Amino acid sequence: MLSLKGDVDVAPDKSISHRALMIAAISCGTSRINNLLLSDDCISTLKCLEKLSVDITQLKGSYVVKGSGRFLKSAVSDLDAGNSGTTARMISGILAGQNFKSRIIGDASLSARPMKRVVVPLQKMGARIKTHNWCLPMDISGGELNAIHYVSEISSAQVKSCVLLAGLFACGITKFSEPVKSRDHTERMLKNFGADISVEGDTVSVKGCPSLSSFDVTVPGDISAAAFFIVGALITRGSNLVIKNVGINPTRTGVLNVLKRMGGNIVIENTRVLAGEPVADIIVRSSDLKATEITGAEVPFMIDEIPVIAVAATQAMGETRITGASELRVKETDRLKAITSEIKKMGAVAEELEDGLIIKGPVKLKGAKVDSYKDHRIAMSLAIASLIAEGDTIIKDKDCVTISFPDFWKKLKETVK
Ligand code: S3P
Repeated sequence: MLSLKGDVDVAPDKSISHRALMIAAISCGTSRINNLLLSDDCISTLKCLEKLSVDITQLKGSYVVKGSGRFLKSAVSDLDAGNSGTTARMISGILAGQNFKSRIIGDASLSARPMKRVVVPLQKMGARIKTHNWCLPMDISGGELNAIHYVSEISSAQVKSCVLLAGLFACGITKFSEPVKSRDHTERMLKNFGADISVEGDTVSVKGCPSLSSFDVTVPGDISAAAFFIVGALITRGSNLVIKNVGINPTRTGVLNVLKRMGGNIVIENTRVLAGEPVADIIVRSSDLKATEITGAEVPFMIDEIPVIAVAATQAMGETRITGASELRVKETDRLKAITSEIKKMGAVAEELEDGLIIKGPVKLKGAKVDSYKDHRIAMSLAIASLIAEGDTIIKDKDCVTISFPDFWKKLKETVK
């Protein structure tokens, strides 16, 4: 029987890394980013910014960004967001405020993902945008923008960030409201860089035309990456794992709340604040889990962790029911469909709902040939399921973990005893 033991550092936070690069790029002055995530998605952001003539250099393990001020230089070719929805949607907000034309493209997965959610608010602000059936490629003719109050039907930090970044190029105060507050890294980061930004309930307001100052960011570990190790330690026997320096921003810790509610032995220690973000060490021990119910009001706080929570639910006593999670259908792959079909191949008792999942446990899993659908979070969730499966598991396209956690396989090997 395998256990997860010792200390582990997980990948730096992907969301914070994208934001640090983009916001430093449009600030005045030089910012240093320590512990930047150099995964495929963040490299897409870095390369797009370099194409827009932002000067980014590496210096002793850190990245130094010389801000261009609010106005960038037009790119000579298409801006390739690769597999990264965060790159495409956030950078569209910056490009909407530039006095030139840009085209954003992406890989096959990203080109099938909805862009209407950012196109509509940006058009309302005055940007001229063309898409292919609301998907990439996206052609943006930017310029002076109008401030708006955008009330979004979905909770999405990518959409919120796009509107707030565009708001920096608008005269007046831009407001964004959403049903449940999504992750607030952009708000925190903009404040650090000197923007005039305020939050009241689920509405964020940002004042246009600021001159952003520089700021040095140290990126904490990604709780979404930590989630795989947390579930791994909970569901294996004899595990005792310390995950160091993990971001515990309350808009991201839904996974901790749910796993604790399921009976998970999870202790948070050494809490401190790093560049405006709370950070801690997380200690996890093997636990007997019980089923739970997760509804739409909680989903935004654990949007990327639901596939691995589903793996935890296969080992929990009773029926776990997840609803209000239809956003998972428009991620890198349809994650509701992918996780249900693949854990079922391993013997799980799972059912796909239109907006969620039902999983019955506990069930003894068995090794199988499974498909990641080239989705990093599906690949890592299946890797965690394989730890408790009898026999070998073969995960198709397992290397897609480089999207968010390039060292995942190495770190897993180091912690599995
Ligand atoms: C992200 C927001 C989430 C999340 C994604 C990263 C971000 O997407 O799924 O992995 O960095 O803003 P939505 O905002 O579309 O829910």
